[in-house]
Amino acid sequence: MLVLGIETSCDETGVALVDSERGLLAQALHSQVDLHEAYGGVVPELASRDHIRRLLPLTRSVLTEARLTRTDLDAIAYTQGPGLAGALLVGASFAHGLAYALRIPALPIHHLEGHLLSPLIAAPDLAFPFVALLVSGGHTQLMQVGGIGDYKLLGDTLDDAAGEAFDKTAKLLGLGYPGGPAIAAAARAGRPGRFRLPRPMLGSDDLDMSFSGLKTAVMTLVRAQPSTPASGGLIDSTRLPAQTVSDIAAEFQEAATDVLAAKAMAALARTGLSSLVVAGGVGANLRLREKLDSAAARRSAQVVYPPIALCTDNGAMIAWAGALRLRATRRPTDVSAQAFTVRPRWPLDTLERP
Ligand code: KG4
Ligand code: ZN
Repeated sequence: MLVLGIETSCDETGVALVDSERGLLAQALHSQVDLHEAYGGVVPELASRDHIRRLLPLTRSVLTEARLTRTDLDAIAYTQGPGLAGALLVGASFAHGLAYALRIPALPIHHLEGHLLSPLIAAPDLAFPFVALLVSGGHTQLMQVGGIGDYKLLGDTLDDAAGEAFDKTAKLLGLGYPGGPAIAAAARAGRPGRFRLPRPMLGSDDLDMSFSGLKTAVMTLVRAQPSTPASGGLIDSTRLPAQTVSDIAAEFQEAATDVLAAKAMAALARTGLSSLVVAGGVGANLRLREKLDSAAARRSAQVVYPPIALCTDNGAMIAWAGALRLRATRRPTDVSAQAFTVRPRWPLDTLERP
């Protein structure tokens, strides 16, 4: 089965071709980082318009790369949600239009299910059940995964997502957008011990997390620096010495990854499972990977990550989730039903098995 995957939930246009037997055949990605950088975050209307421009050329390019044509396709998987409504609508209408023309099914995919199953692209033999740590710009969740579509929420963030905390902290430090890679790069020259930031909810008796206090603590720390006079209530981080920026970035990264690693290990302990799958953009963080690897090794557990390039949003994870659902489905797919909707808000644990 050949599945075309379309991802347009936020600021990346991702398109990929997955064969259910042969795996990932081709993928193409256009990042809108340059488009949104001047605004310090994603501007939804600009995102939608850019997805419209990119989808067709990217689709042509993956077909050419795989030496296939659109008539070879068996299904088109697209991100139905969660995400930005306008951006999702672009991918959904493209997918349904093309599927209708080709008389093949269009498969609505949950964006987080895409992230969650993406480590299996590189490790197709990983057995269910496992614990998944989903850490993206919008979500920070621990899930118990019993199979495709069988997701039980174990813990969640009570406020900001981990990626959001990286993004907001980077902005406070004048490091730009997206914040995760910028913090990680600055932290390389940093000394984590110079400042001390809190590890929110580290000792709480549950698997929930909280990151907004950490961001506030960074703000307080930046304000307290002699080199940053606050002008009109706004923080001017441009005069912070580069070493101070790096030191704060390093300590922030330590604090955030300490909490994530501890909660992920607590989830393994609580469920009695021994496999942890890490997915989402923050899963690209190498310090987080180091901590998870060493903590897991101490309890003889294994940690599975998607390849770094598949951590952030991409079309391959959507095509892959579509191919897995198609393979597992017992219901015939109705190719004539082309009415569609998007789901900007969509809890992952409401999904059903195929
Ligand atoms: O999964 P993703 O691409 O998009 C969402 O669905 O949100 O995740 C994006 C998030 C951003 O907050 C970004 O700052 C963060 O992942 N991120 C990182 C790293 N690379 C991306 N956070 C920490 N370290 C990284 N290396
Ligand atoms: Zn994502």
